[in-house]
Amino acid sequence: MMAKRLLFGADCRRKYVSVIRNAICSEIHGSSWMKACAANVQGRWPKVENAMERLPTSVSAKIPFKRRMCSTFQSTIDQAEIKKFQSLAQKWWDENGEFQALHTMNDLRVPFIRDTLINYIGSRQSGSPLSGVRLLDVGCGGGLLSEPLARLGAVVTGLDPVEDNIRTAEVHKSPDPFLNKQLQYKACSLEDITEECSECFDAIVASEVLEHVADRETFINCCYHVLKPSGHLFITTINKTNLSYLIGIIAAEWIFSIVPRGTHEWEKFVIPEELERQLESNGFYVESINGMYYNICSGLWSWTESTSINYALHAVKSKDTQHPESENPVSEETIQSYANSAS
Ligand SMILES: C[S@@+](CC[C@H](N)C(=O)[O-])C[C@H]1O[C@@H](n2cnc3c(N)ncnc32)[C@H](O)[C@@H]1O
Repeated sequence: MMAKRLLFGADCRRKYVSVIRNAICSEIHGSSWMKACAANVQGRWPKVENAMERLPTSVSAKIPFKRRMCSTFQSTIDQAEIKKFQSLAQKWWDENGEFQALHTMNDLRVPFIRDTLINYIGSRQSGSPLSGVRLLDVGCGGGLLSEPLARLGAVVTGLDPVEDNIRTAEVHKSPDPFLNKQLQYKACSLEDITEECSECFDAIVASEVLEHVADRETFINCCYHVLKPSGHLFITTINKTNLSYLIGIIAAEWIFSIVPRGTHEWEKFVIPEELERQLESNGFYVESINGMYYNICSGLWSWTESTSINYALHAVKSKDTQHPESENPVSEETIQSYANSAS
């Protein structure tokens, strides 16, 4: 009963969330409101209007990298997403606020990135295990992940297209001389940074970003471009399942206010197999995919075998520096005809 009341209109303000969580935690796994939510899942999704996604893979995979990046349909930026994050730019470092789940996600993702990198490239200094690693944190927001990675010794560039996010990140790191040395921020897009950087990072982290970009294919291509051969790509994102709609959107946004309403669009989520296919057709080997579980009751994350909601992926760029697509580019006419039909 209590859960139903919540679903159908009771005010669920953040300050009451922990109390409410405890009170109805046991009902989460019951099915009464889950069934009601399930009705919402049916057939509501507008078709994805992304031009690259309309191209057959056989064609999009062959469009030369520079062409993908320079034509009209090649921005990774979705202006609606930028507006969303603009309005939250002051909230990044409130551990009990809108980004609480990202704060606690560090317990999982920081060791995941650290240990994977140590495993592959070895630790150079104890206490500073990522010393010498040049790392790009794409979509760094307020720097929640950039800071701990820099403290581990990595030389970190945090990049975000929302200027106010970068301002918040700068202010937060500024009192710390070590961070000032290790960590720099840039207010720009991933596409922008490819202009000044080719194969200059040992690792890229894109944590909870992919589900906000306009064009995943371009995003992956840009990552390929700025990573060194054999460089590492770490992605955390959300699977595209009914369960991710129920938990990631209905529960997290509408019932428990764990993240603000409207933060996520289900159609931008991606199933791991599809992401793996996209990465592998763009010159990456996917090394691991691990499920992540957020416990709404405790606010803590743990690893799980199931990738049905959140997951973390580690991929390695092939040693071959030539992008696979450039070996057999499609003709100008073909590209143009698809660009015309997509516009
Ligand atoms: C959910 S937040 C994640 C922030 C940070 N990675 C973390 O986990 O603490 C998503 C971030 O991606 C940024 N973003 C949105 N679109 C982007 C794009 N096309 N390229 C890079 N970052 C983007 C947003 O401004 C926002 O800061």
